[in-house]
Amino acid sequence: MKIAIGSDHAGVDYKKAIVELLKSKGIEVEDFGPFTTDSVDYPDYIHPVAQSVEDKKADRGIILCGTGNGAGMTANKHQGVRAALCWCPEIARLARQHNDANVLDIPARFVTLEQALEMVEIFLCEPFEGGRHICRINKIPCSK
Ligand code: RB5
Repeated sequence: MKIAIGSDHAGVDYKKAIVELLKSKGIEVEDFGPFTTDSVDYPDYIHPVAQSVEDKKADRGIILCGTGNGAGMTANKHQGVRAALCWCPEIARLARQHNDANVLDIPARFVTLEQALEMVEIFLCEPFEGGRHICRINKIPCSK
């Protein structure tokens, strides 16, 4: 599995810890930055992550900003991207089970690092339930 990851300045510290976790598991990671806490515009770092998932260069993406909203709004403009704003492990689990989320969107200023890492673990392992959820996620795109 290959993971694309990106954030803004509000998520950069958690991003670093998540990259370390992923690498410790032997997972290939493409980190689109940023790499300092200098203030940046989140679309500059989130679009590349979402594009990588849209182009199937990455299997899944992880994005972070302060609230998760700017990052999620940006990522969900991309066809085929289902970015889920997750603020607790159970939401992350349901985002995989019911929504087949392919991008985990973390609100870095509103969750602990421990919660963020637990959500990453769940996002990596939890399967999509399929069934009744398939026709629902197929109705998400505005155009194909
Ligand atoms: C940055 O201050 C903050 O606006 C950003 O991280 C994010 O929360 C935007 O949606």
